[in-house]
Order: sequence, then structure tokens, then C-alpha cells
Amino acid sequence: MTAAEEDRVMKAYIPFFLACALFACTACSDNDNNGNDDNNDNTDAPVEGVVPGTDHHILIAYFSEPLPDNGVDAATSASRLVVNGDVYGSVEYMASIIGEATGGDRVCIRTAEPYPQDYSALAEQANNECQNDVHPALATHIDNFADYDVIFVGYPIWWYQMPMAMYTFFDEYDFAGKTIIPFSSHGGSGWSGTVDDIAEMEPSATFVNGYSISRNNVSESADDIRSWLQQIGIIE
Ligand SMILES: Cc1cc2nc3c(=O)[nH]c(=O)nc-3n(C[C@H](O)[C@H](O)[C@H](O)COP(=O)(O)O)c2cc1C
Repeated sequence: MTAAEEDRVMKAYIPFFLACALFACTACSDNDNNGNDDNNDNTDAPVEGVVPGTDHHILIAYFSEPLPDNGVDAATSASRLVVNGDVYGSVEYMASIIGEATGGDRVCIRTAEPYPQDYSALAEQANNECQNDVHPALATHIDNFADYDVIFVGYPIWWYQMPMAMYTFFDEYDFAGKTIIPFSSHGGSGWSGTVDDIAEMEPSATFVNGYSISRNNVSESADDIRSWLQQIGIIE
């Protein structure tokens, strides 16, 4: 077992009730109110400040799991946003802003077997997948992946790491020579080392400084996301 695998298994054994207490509560403490709350300073991976090259073909690939507001579980309303009457998951909303600003193609990474739409069942299934290192089959297939040179990769933090579907995603595509720009939403635990995890899986990719934000701030993040896109030189 590699160090990363051991780390993943250890993280997965953090007690279930603790995570429920931490993340099922809409009043979770995030201690940030102003946009990009954590950069890539906590990563060991070499991260570029700006996107190298010109004339990019941009893909925005993201995983997002907005849960229906069933009026029972407070957590469900925390994982979906309503902006101008449209309902989004946090990461889905970030992807929409990035897509509008860059003109990149957007694709939502979906599993072949949909996740439960009940928070507790979803949390339990996600935890089981972590513990057993399950890489769930995807329904999403990107036939023209080779056409893209810059890939924004978006995901929520689940159980202190990426959802396991993201591991399947990185299994399935060759990122050698491509530029990866991560973006993420979380309930308080920031990047949780996920950029390092991706860098370990994709050692031949170039990484550019990403964007991570608490779900509590996503609905008001559009201007900050556009500022970040300017900083990394992907838009003017
Ligand atoms: C199964 C599950 C596990 C989660 N685990 C964490 C976690 O470990 N750390 C954290 O900060 N947030 C955690 N969250 C909160 C999500 O990262 C947060 O709500 C995120 O904004 C969801 O994005 P989405 O609406 O695009 O799916 C978890 C949420 C779910 C559903």
C-alpha cells in the first residue's frame, strides 16, 4: 500500500458520526467570508501561478451532488444554491461561472449508479467507498478529451478527500502534457490535500493555482472567481 493509500484509508476511518455532526449542520463554522479562503500553499505539488501557453482549448470537468430540499434534513439545503431562480450544486455553480468567463466546454462527471438523494445515505455510501477504495463506474465519457490542453477540474470535499468518482475520472484519462486547474467547494476543511492527491496520480501534468471556497460563500463568489481567472492569465 502506498503512503497515499494508507493516508486515504486512515482518513476514511474518521468516525461517521463526527463527520455528520460537522457537515450535516448548516451552521458549520467556516471562518471565512471573503472568497478564496485557501490557496495552494498547503500543497507539495509544484503549482504554476499562470497558465502556460496560448490558444487554449478549455474543458471544465466537475463533480457536484446537489441534494433535493426534502424539508427534513437541514444538510440538504446546504448543498444546493438558488441563484437568480436557478438551482445549483456549489461546484456546479463555480463551473458555470468559469464556463461563462472562459468559454470552455463544461461536462458534469456522473456515476453510472446515481448516488442516494438522502444526505445520511449518501454520506454512508461515500464513506464506504472511501474505506474500500471503490472507484465507481462513470456514466460520463469524454470522447474528445485529447482535444483539450487546459482542464479545470472541480469537486466537493467528501470525507476529507475527493469523491471517489474523481479517482475513476483520473484513472480514465491521460493528463500527460495537459494543464490542470483545480477548483473545489467544502464545508470547512479546505483543499484537504486533494491537489497533492491529483499530482500523485497525474505526475506529467502541469498544475496551476486553483480556487477553493467554503460552500457558505459560493453564491457570492462570481466576482472573486473571475478575479482568480484573471490572476492565472486565462482571461483578460
Ligand atoms: C458525503 C459528504 C461528505 C462531505 N465531507 C466533507 C468533508 O470531509 N469536509 C468538508 O469540508 N466538507 C464536506 N462535505 C461538504 C461538501 O464538501 C460541501 O457541501 C460542498 O459544497 C458540496 O458541493 P456540491 O454541492 O457541488 O456537491 C461533505 C458533503 C457530503 C455530501
